[in-house]
Amino acid sequence: APLKVTKICCLGAGYVGGPTCAVVALKCPHIKVTIVDFNQARIDAWNSPDYNLPIYEPGLEDVVRQARGRNLFFSTNVDQAILEAELIFVSVNTPTKKSGVGAGFAADLNYVELATRQIARVSTSSKIVVEKSTVPCRTAESMRTILEANSKPGCRFDILSNPEFLAEGTAIQDLFAPDRVLIGSLQTPEGKSACESLVEVYNNWVPKQKIFTVGLWSSELSKLAANAMLAQRISSINALSAICEATGANIDEVSNAVGMDSRVGPKFLRASVGFGGSCFQKDILNLVYLSESLHLPEVAAYWRQVVEMNDYQKRRFSKRVVDTLFNTITGKRIAVLGFAFKADTGDTRESAAITLIRDFQAERARISIYDPKVEESQIWQDLQEASPTVPLVDIQKNVTITHSVLEATRDVEAVIIATEWREFKLIDWHAVYAQMSKPAFLFDGRLLVNPDELRQIGFRVSVIGRGETL
Ligand code: UDX
Ligand code: UDX
Ligand code: ADP
Repeated sequence: APLKVTKICCLGAGYVGGPTCAVVALKCPHIKVTIVDFNQARIDAWNSPDYNLPIYEPGLEDVVRQARGRNLFFSTNVDQAILEAELIFVSVNTPTKKSGVGAGFAADLNYVELATRQIARVSTSSKIVVEKSTVPCRTAESMRTILEANSKPGCRFDILSNPEFLAEGTAIQDLFAPDRVLIGSLQTPEGKSACESLVEVYNNWVPKQKIFTVGLWSSELSKLAANAMLAQRISSINALSAICEATGANIDEVSNAVGMDSRVGPKFLRASVGFGGSCFQKDILNLVYLSESLHLPEVAAYWRQVVEMNDYQKRRFSKRVVDTLFNTITGKRIAVLGFAFKADTGDTRESAAITLIRDFQAERARISIYDPKVEESQIWQDLQEASPTVPLVDIQKNVTITHSVLEATRDVEAVIIATEWREFKLIDWHAVYAQMSKPAFLFDGRLLVNPDELRQIGFRVSVIGRGETL
């Protein structure tokens, strides 16, 4: 019979490991779940008495309030948690490599490898090791090789791939009621038995028919494929938005019309200033790198184009702002509303806003930023990383971080909507208009405003995927 799991350890208390294993703990009160990280500040935040958690995610605090101290624990004692657990989730960071072979494309698997070696070194009993980080195909195979080469007598390691499909901002909802749980294993009796143990964990709240078990390779590739195909829909619709702007067609109408075909489906067809987030670009570039390594250049080129279209969309938007403001924004004041890569998250990784602001800075505009959630220090860090050769003090001469829409838009010539925060749907545009320089320009990168209403007020409105600008 498959091993019944009673203790779980999660390596990495980030966006993936934290919410996922908090939900596992909530739904499985009979299992002790310990989430570990060597980042003391992060663990302290997870343990903070007033629930000042390190990541913002609707519903997360409630989950942690119910489970923490009961069967959910956060700790920096990584070795202890590994020793105790029968099942270990590995959800450490896998950023895109910044140097060396595959720089800018391949995933940096250093953290995964170190975590795997740590499991091999510390373990004194058999473990099921579950790959949870987004990683390129064959990572499970490398992990298996490391574990097997370093195992002690009586210590068996079974490796599973269990990619995470949660989206930020809806993580808790996605974890409570996932479209599917995907588990990959070796198709050996031992592999299938380990798989069964993990199925039993999920089956505490996920119905069996939504738990899909496949081979290790298929599991790993499906994760990259799912994100690549979601991103590809956005790039496709964004490519069409450029045609709309040039012809007077309306991208909203086009995407509705296309999405009504049940073979296409209505979701994820919203034109925007460009997709962001920690996964889409990274996973596609992983897929590109994989295709190239497998000597499949046509496949690589196909997926690469999805990222190129996204870069083009951001560039095109910045250019439209400059062109519309009479071909120069030097010294002009511009408000950027939204800095997170999407609404309901404080995460800024790959956010389109960063690229736009960098472009505006290069044109020497004066920029004010408002985001309801993103920390000020994070904004400075992102802007610095986007323009590494410009000293931060010089960036700060031209950029102000503000605390409300009204503060951000005072005396500006243009307002840019970069994130679809609900708060922005409730803006009193009369009040904003009254305090702006005239003519007052508004650029909607998120299809959030009603352009006709704003034109009535007096704004000159440009919307993604809409031709008319007056
Ligand atoms: C994504 C996947 O959805 C999730 O399944 C995976 O596990 C991780 O990557 P996430 O990055 O959190 O999740 O956000 P998502 O909602 O997918 O949005 C990604 C980006 O695409 C955002 O910048 C969003 O604004 C943009 N987007 C999304 C669009 O521009 N148009 C759309 O129609 C949908
Ligand atoms: C298509 C559109 O479906 C239809 O809406 C439009 O009005 C005309 O073009 P049709 O060309 O008759 O219709 O066939 P369709 O069923 O869409 O298939 C087109 C091609 O795609 C076929 O060669 C089919 O074998 C192939 N196909 C379809 C696949 O290879 N894989 C699939 O999953 C679906
Ligand atoms: P993700 O979005 O994939 O969850 P994050 O960067 O938010 O990525 O989180 C990954 C976390 O993993 C970081 O907090 C990092 O400190 C932690 N981490 C990396 N390596 C290890 C390790 N060997 N043991 C424990 N935690 C680790």
